[in-house]
Amino acid sequence: MRSFALVAFLSAVVAASAKQIVITVGANTTANASTIFSPAEVTAVIGDVVLFNFTQGNHSATQSTFASPCIPAHDTNATINGFNSGLRPTNNGTAITNLPVTITTNDTIWFYDIATCALGGVGGINVNESSTETLDGFIRNAIRLNGTATSTSASASATAPSGTGSSTRSSTSASATGGSNGADRAVVGALAALPMALIALVL
Ligand SMILES: *[C@@H]1O[C@H](CO)[C@@H](O)[C@H](O)[C@H]1NC(C)=O
Ligand SMILES: *[C@@H]1O[C@H](CO)[C@@H](O)[C@H](O)[C@H]1NC(C)=O
Ligand SMILES: *[C@@H]1O[C@H](CO)[C@@H](O)[C@H](O)[C@H]1NC(C)=O
Ligand SMILES: *[C@@H]1O[C@H](CO)[C@@H](O)[C@H](O)[C@H]1NC(C)=O
Ligand SMILES: *[C@@H]1O[C@H](CO)[C@@H](O)[C@H](O)[C@H]1NC(C)=O
Ligand SMILES: *[C@@H]1O[C@H](CO)[C@@H](O)[C@H](O)[C@H]1NC(C)=O
Ligand SMILES: *[C@@H]1O[C@H](CO)[C@@H](O)[C@H](O)[C@H]1NC(C)=O
Ligand SMILES: *[C@@H]1O[C@H](CO)[C@@H](O)[C@H](O)[C@H]1NC(C)=O
Ligand SMILES: *[C@@H]1O[C@H](CO)[C@@H](O)[C@H](O)[C@H]1NC(C)=O
Repeated sequence: MRSFALVAFLSAVVAASAKQIVITVGANTTANASTIFSPAEVTAVIGDVVLFNFTQGNHSATQSTFASPCIPAHDTNATINGFNSGLRPTNNGTAITNLPVTITTNDTIWFYDIATCALGGVGGINVNESSTETLDGFIRNAIRLNGTATSTSASASATAPSGTGSSTRSSTSASATGGSNGADRAVVGALAALPMALIALVL
């Protein structure tokens, strides 16, 4: 009973520290695909919510894999039940929507925009920039493969760290509260309710 209470308390601490990390989707897209996801690289811990905020244009946030940047993850690896917003037209910024993604793994999560993947409209959550699978490597894969093939023999050259510029990429976590759609409020509400339920158990 005592240890259960301790576990409940620790869970409450974890839940209380879960944060929301906003990635803005859109900006000026046809002109520069590298600005579609802003920031394109974020860090998040298990329990955090990465919120894709579709603010301009007609884009998606679709999970993929490092080897196949422009193909939905589930299509290349059936065990991955990846997220996919589908194309979200924002009607020139007047119909802003969100896609909240709750983080459940420490592994890197790669994603792309259906509309601009071939131009490098991609990003990643918890990218290990010390590994061979860097964001720059992912961008190069996306441009090279253009959503038409999976990476096989050519992946080694495509995935090697470039050695230039990768350190200048921003890796930002911003936290925010509230949100502009029901799904987002439901997630935040559930997280807020959890500690109270656990406190009730402890008492
Ligand atoms: C997008 O880029 C084009 C070309 O640089 C520019 O003319 C246009 O004003 C930009 N639009 C926005 C919304 O930034
Ligand atoms: C695209 O945006 C990135 C980041 O802001 C910038 O470094 C790069 O020079 C831009 N490329 C073009 C073609 O404007
Ligand atoms: C498919 O995804 C699972 C879970 O991420 C991973 O363990 C497995 O290695 C992947 N399979 C292939 C062939 O990449
Ligand atoms: C969004 O993009 C898709 C694919 O290019 C297109 O079929 C659809 O008509 C677009 N929707 C709007 C509202 O522009
Ligand atoms: C979007 O808004 C800009 C500036 O108000 C306007 O010039 C442009 O025509 C609009 N585009 C669409 C597709 O409505
Ligand atoms: C995720 O990483 C954290 C911090 O390194 C670790 O405590 C936790 O056990 C990991 N969780 C999983 C499921 O790997
Ligand atoms: C990607 O493929 C489309 C359709 O084949 C083509 O129009 C586009 O130019 C290609 N983009 C790149 C960057 O190769
Ligand atoms: C990142 O990759 C390097 C090289 O493969 C590895 O040594 C390191 O443990 C990785 N870091 C994490 C947090 O997985
Ligand atoms: C999404 O972007 C819009 C427009 O910039 C902004 O008003 C809104 O607060 C953003 N939503 C979140 C959850 O950050």
